[in-house]
Amino acid sequence: MVCLGNICRSPLAEGILRDKTKKLNLNTIIDSAGTSDNHVGQHPDKRSILNAKKNGIDISQLKARQFKVSDFDIFDYIYVMDEYNLADVLELARNDNDRKKVEFILNKAFPNSNMAVPDPYYEGEKEFEHVFQLLNKACLIIAKSL
Ligand code: 4NP
Repeated sequence: MVCLGNICRSPLAEGILRDKTKKLNLNTIIDSAGTSDNHVGQHPDKRSILNAKKNGIDISQLKARQFKVSDFDIFDYIYVMDEYNLADVLELARNDNDRKKVEFILNKAFPNSNMAVPDPYYEGEKEFEHVFQLLNKACLIIAKSL
């Protein structure tokens, strides 16, 4: 799960997908990262932590890290939140095998739409809940497909 800062959207996506795969007893490795290093080492944004908690998920212990080339070797699927994340991740791809792992997460729920998960950083609680609902819908489909 990749966004810009790894403090708002992608930690939510990580928490949601981990919750769903756990409930399905799936043995998966799920992680998130940011394309920037601006928030490395920080816990998720308080508003993401609160929103997740409200929805029954604890993401308070996660810590931001930056996406790195070796992530292509560890993960089968790399879901990005928006077109900027897509461009930044694709820039690090070494070959077609890396490139084909990368996908807009919302294409799972809205096929071929290339829709972005809107960046809620400068917004309020309502937008964080909107992000949660979008990610929840996509993660349900991802978990069922694993
Ligand atoms: P995220 O949100 O990419 O969903 O973690 C943001 C976090 C920080 C900033 C922008 C977006 N920022 O400008 O610091």
